[in-house]
Amino acid sequence: MGDSGRAWFKHCHLLDSERPEEICTWSNHLLQVLHLSIRLHSSLHSQELAGDLGQTYDSNDTLTHYEKNSMGGQTLLVVGDLSYADRYPNHDNVRWDTWGRFVERSNAYQPWIWVTGNHEIDFAPEIGETKPFKPFTHRYHVPHRASNSTSPHWYSVKIASAYIIVLSSYSAYGEYTPQTLWLQDELPKVNRSQTPWLIVLMHSPWYNSYADHVMEGESMRVMYEWLLVRYKVDLVFAGHVHAYERSERISNIAYRVVYGGCRPVLDENAPVYITVGDGGNVEGLSKNMIEPQPEYSAYREASFGHATLSIRNRTHAFYNWHRNQDGYNIVADSVWFHNRIWTPYSEILPSLK
Ligand SMILES: [Fe+2]
Repeated sequence: MGDSGRAWFKHCHLLDSERPEEICTWSNHLLQVLHLSIRLHSSLHSQELAGDLGQTYDSNDTLTHYEKNSMGGQTLLVVGDLSYADRYPNHDNVRWDTWGRFVERSNAYQPWIWVTGNHEIDFAPEIGETKPFKPFTHRYHVPHRASNSTSPHWYSVKIASAYIIVLSSYSAYGEYTPQTLWLQDELPKVNRSQTPWLIVLMHSPWYNSYADHVMEGESMRVMYEWLLVRYKVDLVFAGHVHAYERSERISNIAYRVVYGGCRPVLDENAPVYITVGDGGNVEGLSKNMIEPQPEYSAYREASFGHATLSIRNRTHAFYNWHRNQDGYNIVADSVWFHNRIWTPYSEILPSLK
């Protein structure tokens, strides 16, 4: 991380409490357009690219589209799976370094918020590496202690009018575990007058109608979904599935094993779930979809791209998804989101059958 990154994290910490006058400065600066949510997969195809900021064509295309977007994103939310170094012999850490150089053109100048993905685990006992997450956590520091987290894999940051909670799909989330205790303590702290927009990031999506990674997020959903509904989280972003999908505003928290009844329903207290695992990577797109498209799935498409979220005020946020095959400012999916606290009515007109 460069000095600018460290400087930003200092500001991020200041947003919490230390110097309110700086909070105002940053909030006013960021409030107008807060761009969120992009996931980048990157890896080297060949040695020829090693000296030239290694990346796949698609990864570079995504980042270029993000940079050329006239909306001018100010923060990037990276929902996990960064370098794909673990796909190379002995988890070649040079790939981590080349990825760092590839993305430096952006994250040297604006904050990137890191989420832990499965390609960050780097657990390789066959070569003596028995400590998970080492290359990732050594390179990409996060301000987890500022939110009383004991781990860099789950934490929160405030950015302008958004309160962003980062969760870890690859850390324990059972009852009594550190991540669960932290989340239970964290959600009641969110002051929706200060930060009206409550956003959760994770890697493995809870709602996914592609054939890849089916049900991988289900156990975490069972544990945490009721909490996100209780505290009226506005949006949940995830990656992992190499495609794009946006859900209706739904929940599925009534289920109990003893009486069944498991079915997502429209729920105005629930988040919208968005998968943006479409950054472009060596593994390619997830093209196989479960048919027919579930009613809770509002839009899905297997294309590389990125998404932007422009928080306009405490009631409205404008969301867009952009495809790499389109021009820089072309929008493929677009929706206005209404804040769950300040405008709690639904954006959804039809009901699920
Ligand atoms: Fe993944």
